[in-house]
Amino acid sequence: MKRVLKWAGFGLAGLVVFVLFAVAGAFAASELMIRWPASDTAELKLASAAAGSVERGRRIAKLNGCHDCHGERLEGRLFHDEMPILRAWGPNLTLAAAEQSDAELDRSIRHGVAPGGRRLWVMPSFALSQLSDQEAADLIAYVRSFPVAGEPQPRIQVGHLGRLGLLLGKFRSEAAMLAKSGPPVLPDYGPQHAQGRQVAELCVECHGADLKGMELLKAPDLTMAASYDPADFARLLHEGVAAGDRKLDGLMGAVAQSRFSALSETEIQALHAYLKARAEHEIAAAQ
Ligand code: HEC
Ligand code: HEC
Repeated sequence: MKRVLKWAGFGLAGLVVFVLFAVAGAFAASELMIRWPASDTAELKLASAAAGSVERGRRIAKLNGCHDCHGERLEGRLFHDEMPILRAWGPNLTLAAAEQSDAELDRSIRHGVAPGGRRLWVMPSFALSQLSDQEAADLIAYVRSFPVAGEPQPRIQVGHLGRLGLLLGKFRSEAAMLAKSGPPVLPDYGPQHAQGRQVAELCVECHGADLKGMELLKAPDLTMAASYDPADFARLLHEGVAAGDRKLDGLMGAVAQSRFSALSETEIQALHAYLKARAEHEIAAAQ
């Protein structure tokens, strides 16, 4: 009996050692995934800043939420605190702008790779890769219009549940997303929908490259927007109140107020028409 217990003890100790190694291995693997540099040598094209750049850049920044994560004065901030998944600070962009060239800033913004080949996580470069060369130049001119201020911010911290998601392939770096599928390209439903298609690029970040929704964020397929009437759709985008007077207090409600409130009536109508055309195509394709 004693012997059996002794062997059982060894077995248990072995199991504990095995689990410790497995955990250490998983930690090391996820750490490598977070830190492994990218060898991004893409030729960068950037238009030069022109008259009105800063003003146009201000609107692009508002619609894309730069301040939500990088702070009102772009000095950086803690914007997401959800351990054991993720704690994320937007870096101080006034310091980054003081040290980096336009091409380096553009590489972070549209390619998801910071100087030294550091792959960016959480920073929405996959969606921002849809910006044109001129829009990127305007955005950078706007970032440069802020005085250098504040301290450097810590780098993102990934908790054990976040690391599990990483190992399971649920989270990927923005550079990895771009390497896998290239910049997102929304379906083209003709010149009458060109404006709506451009506005819909703002939805890719959370509703996915094909607008079919994103499980991770619980963002739905946007075919459902076709069932909205025009007034409700405008209210959803400007105030974050969904059809049936449902006040959305998650991400959608927040971005409607902080970002999409800057969309004009015409842009919202064009977006709605584009999403309806898309829904008709999706339904026809399914039949
Ligand atoms: C959802 C939050 C979020 C939004 C929105 C966002 N960023 Fe970021 N950004 C981050 C995070 C987080 C990092 C750092 C990621 C990392 O270290 O892996 C980052 C990194 C950067 C960097 C690299 C900074 C450095 O230290 O070299 C630049 C440049 C940048 N963002 C610019 C922008 C601009 C311009 C916009 C608006 C168009 C924007 N970001 C919108 C979260 C965000
Ligand atoms: C930052 C992430 C984010 C962005 C960007 C975003 N959405 Fe959403 N959206 C969500 C999430 C998450 C939900 C689910 C409701 C919630 O949790 O807020 C949602 C819900 C919705 C719904 C369903 C509302 C209902 O009836 O319940 C519609 C329609 C919608 N979004 C349209 C859009 C459109 C159009 C855009 C682009 C202009 C957009 N969203 C951009 C995150 C986002």
